[in-house]
Amino acid sequence: MDLASYRNRFPVLEKAAYLVSHSLGAMPLDAKEELELYTTEWATRGVGAWNEGWWDTPLSVGDELAPIVGAPPGSIAMVPNVTVAESIAASCFTLHGVANRVVCTDLNFPSVRRIWERVPGAKVTTVRSWDGTTIPTETFVAAIDQRSALVVIGHVLFPSSYVQDVKAIIERAHDVGAMVVLDVYQSAGVMPIDLVELEADFAVGGSAKWLCGGLGAGWLYVRKELQPSLEPRLVAWPGDRSPFDVHTQNAASQDGMWRFVSGTPNVPALYTARAGYRIIREVGVAAIRDKSLRMTGKLIEIGDRLGIPLLTNRDPNRRGGTVAFAVEGAQRVADRLTEQHVIVEAVPEVGISVGPHFYNNDEDLARFEKALRLA
Ligand SMILES: Cc1ncc(COP(=O)(O)O)c(C=O)c1O
Repeated sequence: MDLASYRNRFPVLEKAAYLVSHSLGAMPLDAKEELELYTTEWATRGVGAWNEGWWDTPLSVGDELAPIVGAPPGSIAMVPNVTVAESIAASCFTLHGVANRVVCTDLNFPSVRRIWERVPGAKVTTVRSWDGTTIPTETFVAAIDQRSALVVIGHVLFPSSYVQDVKAIIERAHDVGAMVVLDVYQSAGVMPIDLVELEADFAVGGSAKWLCGGLGAGWLYVRKELQPSLEPRLVAWPGDRSPFDVHTQNAASQDGMWRFVSGTPNVPALYTARAGYRIIREVGVAAIRDKSLRMTGKLIEIGDRLGIPLLTNRDPNRRGGTVAFAVEGAQRVADRLTEQHVIVEAVPEVGISVGPHFYNNDEDLARFEKALRLA
């Protein structure tokens, strides 16, 4: 099936060659319907809606995401964003022992790295990229030793779209007794992920990019066997055993993923998120990855034809859903493309990032090439 047949479910594609799904996925019409459903429930059921599904959304929506990332039911809690997800994970730890290192790279999403610097007792070891785009697996693995308590990794590194060998890194971390926090925001929805098979301890992501779920729907995965042994300091009332009992509140955390939930859920955001998940499940991540590799391959050919330096790895196994080009005056170039309704991302001092998704077609790529020649 030609996946571009899904185009008519994404209104922004009527006019634009929308090539920026690594930043903000296109809105499916289903998201609009979900928002209408939310306002109808609010209008007609009022507070009654809490008992008719709203209260359960942090976990029920997490369960809708779970098959996309190879997670079992009850292992994902929806939270406002990745920052909160990662902060909840970090708040499970105090690192005053010999193993007090948190290993990450200078290509992790920057603010996420800083969260770990604030964990009591933690010493953050940063593995530096020699070229600003890649981290050789051997280099990363060599930085993990008996002093490591946690290894915090991105699956696909922003902004080069380099795919880390997370399996090898997780194996090494577990060999020395460290836990792994995996950021899959740049891969979930465009690359197959199996969190159980990878044996990731924690994973974090959002819904706005390849999952086409819109804003305000971050998520945290915690390996099922680990859940009972962790007590996050970032604690919220929905995770309490009796959240509505003012006398016993704050007595004890619920079992399972509820203890990792933040406060009142952002129900409208979770409704639009599940619209995105449904369409990604319907299309299938394996088919999306196939098409994505074909399109990113074509983008690389376009760059080669125009003689533009490439920042993304040519090896398909090391390439995520985005292709980054080192162009000077990136913002000016992106603005010129926007004038032609070709939408890409300008990354200051790096270049432009182009992220095609399953709903794009060859004509979008041709429009990109034409506009880039004129920019
Ligand atoms: C890989 C990655 N991790 C984390 C973040 C931060 O996410 P949030 O703004 O939801 O906290 C981003 C933001 O784009 C990201 O690309």
